Amino acid sequence: MATLRDIIRNKPWMGWILFCATVIVVFLLGLLGSSIVERKSEALMVYTPQVEHGQYEPRNEVWGENFPRQYQTYMKTKEGSFKSRYNGNEMIDMLEVDPRLVVLWAGYGFAKDYNQGRGHAYAVEDLRNTLRTGAPVDGAKSPMPNTCWSCKSPDVPRLMDEVGIAEFYNGSWETKGHEVVNSIGCGDCHDAETMNLKITRPVLTEAFKRMGKDINDASHQEMRSLVCAQCHVEYYFNKKRVGAEGVPYLTLPWDKGMTVEDMEEYYDEIEFKDWTHAVSKAPMLKAQHPGYEVYMTGIHASRGVSCADCHMPYMSEGGQKFTDHHVQSPLNNVANSCQVCHREETEQLLKDVYTSQDRIIENRDKLEELIVRAHVEAKFAWDLGATEEQMSEILMDIRHAQWRWDYAAASHGGSFHSPVETGRVISTGITVAQEGRLKLARLFADLGHNEEIPYPDISTKAKAHEFIGLPVEKMRADKKEFTEKVVPEWLKKAAERESTYTTKTIN
Ligand code: HEC
Ligand code: HEC
Ligand code: HEC
Ligand code: HEC
Repeated sequence: MATLRDIIRNKPWMGWILFCATVIVVFLLGLLGSSIVERKSEALMVYTPQVEHGQYEPRNEVWGENFPRQYQTYMKTKEGSFKSRYNGNEMIDMLEVDPRLVVLWAGYGFAKDYNQGRGHAYAVEDLRNTLRTGAPVDGAKSPMPNTCWSCKSPDVPRLMDEVGIAEFYNGSWETKGHEVVNSIGCGDCHDAETMNLKITRPVLTEAFKRMGKDINDASHQEMRSLVCAQCHVEYYFNKKRVGAEGVPYLTLPWDKGMTVEDMEEYYDEIEFKDWTHAVSKAPMLKAQHPGYEVYMTGIHASRGVSCADCHMPYMSEGGQKFTDHHVQSPLNNVANSCQVCHREETEQLLKDVYTSQDRIIENRDKLEELIVRAHVEAKFAWDLGATEEQMSEILMDIRHAQWRWDYAAASHGGSFHSPVETGRVISTGITVAQEGRLKLARLFADLGHNEEIPYPDISTKAKAHEFIGLPVEKMRADKKEFTEKVVPEWLKKAAERESTYTTKTIN
């Protein structure tokens, strides 16, 4: 066989072709190499810290100087124009959409005002604006404790570090209004030094401990859900905590488990109630938002998918892959949120989500009506002279039925996250509500009443408020005074305090 040298000796032009080809290949390799180096240095530029700050730096914009992409996408949680069939980021007045809620929550803050959740950047503002926090002007107190700030801001871990956990929860809500001013952000989920995910809320760490688990053992993938579980969970205010008696200490009722029955048993055993119902006098439970608990019972959780996979998918920009911090309805971003795992068309995926939601909501509506009827009938029974003893079992049925309804309704996203479990919870609620109404029917027979109890006209929010006798117009006027007078004072004080914070500029 001829060697390369023989070939070139016979046909010198072959040598020149080989030479040129080599030069071209080397040149292209060089280009590739330089482009890689460029991209790498771009990456380095992004992650070279611009400022140095501590863990308790509450200002998102300061962390944002080091991580502009994450910060800029986080700021998109301010957007407010996306609407899916049932959710989205618009501020929707849910009491207007469904006036039955006013009756279900009669005697409790949510009957005053309840809007659909918006983006994380609004958390502090929306808490100030809701009628539930009242209008603490001129020394008047808010009906809510400081515990309500817990899931709103990176000022919370900062304050807990300064004054202690129980002392943070202590006192009425307006006493820390000038302290909690930065909306949910970087310091809530991240370690300042490593930028690893971090649990900053003691409520979750404490709940894990009582279940015999150490949250520090959680895997990276679990952490991508647990950072959300710091807030998107069912909770209550425990005023009997040893060592912090009288303080509304934020607590998760998970000691017996996370199902609707486990938590119900937990609350019944300690005879806890959130409030006494203004119409029926039942000892009520308010399910807050057991989003994590319900999610964990669904197919995605069982396949190891985390909250961040759908609500904070990866995106890429300028050769950089990073986490989209625009936490929102994944239906506004099906390509990144779903289609990384599913091959189906957007249309089909939307249809899957909406079909689950439609089915669940159909039954949830029926349960709501049953519970409204039960409250109204219970009041009628009291008015006819029923005794505590005659009413006690009925009131417990009302408590349990509404707890189940609320567990399903308030587990935002639950109809998609875990449709079978959500459907099950609602159907057990329907059974319990009907049992209560059967007992009521028997009681009416005993009391000599055999006509149907009329269903009130609660076709609008205004009519429902009139039915339960709540003066919302007055509350709204007071709120206006509060936002004009008190909030600017809070902001001024906060700005003065923050002007003393030190951060070190590195470059
Ligand atoms: C520090 C508490 C906190 C943490 C941590 C938190 N959230 Fe939230 N989240 C909230 C609050 C409060 C709201 C409602 C804000 C409002 O309506 O003003 C909210 C709203 C939302 C919404 C509705 C947004 C919209 O546009 O309608 C989604 C979705 C959401 N959170 C998902 C998540 C996910 C996923 C995580 C974890 C990666 C997470 N949250 C972590 C407190 C928190
Ligand atoms: C609700 C919780 C939450 C908040 C608030 C949050 N992050 Fe993140 N962040 C995450 C999650 C989840 C990841 C993905 C981490 C992983 O899988 O390792 C992440 C990843 C990151 C990363 C690693 C690189 C990347 O993009 O994956 C950086 C840097 C970061 N976040 C910066 C920020 C900054 C800056 C802020 C404030 C503007 C912020 N984060 C607010 C949850 C949060
Ligand atoms: C990280 C991967 C991943 C992402 C992201 C993801 N899914 Fe899934 N999804 C799965 C897996 C795995 C299953 C279970 C399928 C199986 O094992 O057969 C599943 C199941 C489903 C099912 C069937 C549910 C059932 O009850 O059987 C639907 C519908 C679905 N996903 C819709 C979505 C939508 C909509 C999104 C975006 C909002 C999404 N998925 C995002 C991995 C993912
Ligand atoms: C497989 C994808 C997927 C995962 C994983 C997932 N979600 Fe969702 N989530 C959705 C979809 C889809 C909706 C319905 C959005 C809609 O109707 O617009 C939703 C709705 C929500 C909502 C209500 C949003 C709104 O606009 O009001 C919240 C809050 C939420 N999810 C939080 C969480 C939390 C917390 C976790 C983890 C414990 C989680 N999600 C895990 C897909 C997911």
